Amino acid sequence: MRVLLVGNGAREHAIAAALARSPQDPRIFAYMSTPNPGIVDLAEDWTEGSLTDIESLKRYAVKVTPDLVVFGPEAPLAAGAVDALEGKGFPCVGPRKALARIEADKAFMREFMAEHLRRGYPRWWTFSDPRSLEEHLRAHPASVIKPIGLTGGKGVRVLGRQLPDLEEALEYARPFIERDGRILVEERLEGEEFSLMVFTDGKRCVPMPLVQDYKYAREGDTGPMTGGMGSYSCADHLLPFVSRADFEAALGIVEDTVAKLGEVTGVPYRGILYGQFIQTSEGPKVIEFNVRFGDPEAMNVLSLLVTDAVEVFASIASGDLIGEIEFAREATVCKYLVPRGYPEAPEAGRSFTLPLQELEAKGIEVYFASVREEDGRYLTTSSRSVALLARAPSPFEAKATLDGFLAEHCPGVLYYRRDIPRLPPQAN
Ligand code: GLY
Repeated sequence: MRVLLVGNGAREHAIAAALARSPQDPRIFAYMSTPNPGIVDLAEDWTEGSLTDIESLKRYAVKVTPDLVVFGPEAPLAAGAVDALEGKGFPCVGPRKALARIEADKAFMREFMAEHLRRGYPRWWTFSDPRSLEEHLRAHPASVIKPIGLTGGKGVRVLGRQLPDLEEALEYARPFIERDGRILVEERLEGEEFSLMVFTDGKRCVPMPLVQDYKYAREGDTGPMTGGMGSYSCADHLLPFVSRADFEAALGIVEDTVAKLGEVTGVPYRGILYGQFIQTSEGPKVIEFNVRFGDPEAMNVLSLLVTDAVEVFASIASGDLIGEIEFAREATVCKYLVPRGYPEAPEAGRSFTLPLQELEAKGIEVYFASVREEDGRYLTTSSRSVALLARAPSPFEAKATLDGFLAEHCPGVLYYRRDIPRLPPQAN
């Protein structure tokens, strides 16, 4: 089995590691925008190219003739990579462009939910002129501003938090209105957030363990938003603040989204659909949909995946998802180590090492994100550097394993959040 992996972050390293554990011993090929040392180690061959250069990706696919193509990030999906590769006869795990719009166009996402789901979303508005936006924000100070198009997961701003006053809010919104033609504004919801990801062939959805992700750069959920600073999951695959009934409600929303997207576009959704939810007093509501694994959530769930990842992915691509997908009944905690100053003024080009043997001996998994490798040392870039993951019977124990290691060994040029995860006393 020849598998082509597209992408180069820690999420894609986790996908490559899951593929490499397969008893089918797949031959892994990788198409990356910059080489990831973890993926390079696992791949038989790899190449560098822009993730949205579909012609370049197609050329590499034609060269390596994969039996299966697995996509990590959303950008190539939104650019039509699956349409192009399926057109060449390569089975893909990832939705076609018309379906990827559910992530790439947030106004479409809300319009779609309002028309076809009719539940599970906040009040929302779109504005194409700054004056009506200003009027609205004056009248609704508890608002969240969301650019319509892709922003690498870093575009959402909350009034009164990252946008302290109206002037800053308008300043922030203006370039996005110019870029996308309009901007999305939603009522601010209160509650804990959680990620529900499913494997789907367009007909059936198999949920993965719930994960909570921490997006703020600094401890106490302060500082700027990032792609995610860490995440955790529990052994029962729920979260302390999500009941079985709330999980079923959220899963119903994801399942209906897959079904309705298929009906509306005429194309089955084959890949991962990730619902980012907020647990409100009225039940779970969708913050956004993503057409890929979450990052860091991919590390939590793929580390636990017991079923052969090749079998799972191949069954998605063939449109006949396997019946049972097993995840280990353990808790996970994942923490990102990022360059000092990240994300506003990251110290790039700083050198560090990791005691890989000691990490392995402690059972801590290492997923490289964005580092350059030189002579056995790693150099930081301006993005997150590396994710560490521990598994244990409870998230308390997994956190203790990671924190114990990091207190002694975190390289001085890197930073991590010690307060991830924040666990209530009853967490299992
Ligand atoms: N962890 C957030 C995301 O992947 O978008």
